[in-house]
Amino acid sequence: VDTRIPLIAGNWKMNLDHLQAIATVQKLAWTLRDKGHPFSEVEVAVFPPFTDLRSVQTLVGADSLDVRYGAQDLSEHDSGAYTGEVSGQFLAKLGCHYVIVGHSERRQYHSEDDQVVARKTAAAVKHGVVPVVCVGETADDLETHGASAVPVSQLAAVLDSVDAGSDIVVAYEPVWAIGSGQAATPEQAQQVCAALRATIAEKWGEDAAAATRILYGGSVKSGNIAGFMAQKDVDGALVGGASLDVDEFAAIARFR
Ligand code: G3P
Repeated sequence: VDTRIPLIAGNWKMNLDHLQAIATVQKLAWTLRDKGHPFSEVEVAVFPPFTDLRSVQTLVGADSLDVRYGAQDLSEHDSGAYTGEVSGQFLAKLGCHYVIVGHSERRQYHSEDDQVVARKTAAAVKHGVVPVVCVGETADDLETHGASAVPVSQLAAVLDSVDAGSDIVVAYEPVWAIGSGQAATPEQAQQVCAALRATIAEKWGEDAAAATRILYGGSVKSGNIAGFMAQKDVDGALVGGASLDVDEFAAIARFR
């Protein structure tokens, strides 16, 4: 029995100003409500910049909106002399349900390696914020090692850093598919997501593997979401560009 509730997540990256962010969350929640979106069957979450989280918390709380939210990154530290960093405990206080960890843009532009990503994952779990751990191969990796090897080793590093069965979400984002308009095929996504689930089974056991959601990310839009969601091991999507347009993102959330 498949008990994994699909998750459609929107990573806004460094987009939308503060007023646009608030308007977007509000419009998204209303659009989903208008369409009778079954939140208990398909969860929807957005990941705005840090500077929007307090306002999003107020908005979502005041109207009891059926939208979850999270941050795009966190510090591996709890508090202290780390100028510019934001810790998991602050995110928890702001009502963040999730936090993205190890996005390829952080790995690429901020030199986050598997050890940093593992420590950030542990920090998120410690503070009760569910990490959405991103893994994925570059075009070069794909050519040299095939699709699964790099994502599997990136995930293995993380699985060793927290207790077996911890509440985490995994997002498979092939780097070559991000923002390129060139999504993986549903079959490619399924193949890697199955390998990731097998890695969880190996390290954490079958039950944990069956309970953990694995998302696909990389040029997802309303026109290709159904193909991904039809795959056995794909439990949702991490959407970048298409999450900035409310109607498009809401259409992705209505993939059935
Ligand atoms: O985290 C989501 C992202 O990296 C995918 O971006 O624009 O290809 O949907 P995009």
